[in-house]
Amino acid sequence: MRNYFIAGNWKMHKTRAESAALATALVAQLKDGKHKYLVAPSFTSLETVGKIVAGSNILLGAQNMAAEEIGAHTGEVSVLQLKDLGVQVVILGHSERRHVYKEDDALINKKVKLAIKHDLEVILCVGETLEERESGKAEKVCETQTEKGLDGVSAAEFEKVTIAYEPVWAIGTGKTATPEDADSIHAYVRKVVSRLYGAEAAKAVCIQYGGSVKADNAAQLMAKANIDGALVGGAALKPETFVPIAKFG
Ligand code: PGA
Repeated sequence: MRNYFIAGNWKMHKTRAESAALATALVAQLKDGKHKYLVAPSFTSLETVGKIVAGSNILLGAQNMAAEEIGAHTGEVSVLQLKDLGVQVVILGHSERRHVYKEDDALINKKVKLAIKHDLEVILCVGETLEERESGKAEKVCETQTEKGLDGVSAAEFEKVTIAYEPVWAIGTGKTATPEDADSIHAYVRKVVSRLYGAEAAKAVCIQYGGSVKADNAAQLMAKANIDGALVGGAALKPETFVPIAKFG
């Protein structure tokens, strides 16, 4: 079996006590899990959750970070502060960051390079809106976001990057891309990676699917040749919905 990577993005949910309860349950219930795991709580819960997952098979992730290392950036969180809390992975370019908070490819690229410089793993999210899909632009949008997001990232640095394909229309909507549609975009993104970094890198890269992943569709999605994991939002908020996804297969 491939090394699947199952990540939970808790978004702007949970107090520290609620985060601690979820993390504690996941550490216990996933300790015999076969895949690679990550939880990404809110910034305010990173320290609490970090202490709970330390030494377990669950990585600690952040949901975003600033494009600058330090300085006068009110309301931002620096890579140095994330490293100080033991964060190992950062999610960048999530569609909520792109579309609600207007982050563009250039800004996301700056963050990607800064995270890698500080030895963080990166989950780079790409994905098209419904309008873009309906006008036949899904592949092109994902290609551009991948290419621009990775501009200036060397082949050696790319080993720290996971790509998450998250069609915007499927996030939090209950609509999932069919396994076939998702797989076809994943295959396309893999071709883009091959062009940028070569065939070996394209084979090795982990491409997660995200967008209304649930226990009852995870296995079918993951059975596809090009789907190597999942980035889970809503279903990541409770052990009873996340653990069955994390333990699929
Ligand atoms: P969802 O979110 O699983 O709630 O659709 C996925 C994500 O935004 O990463």
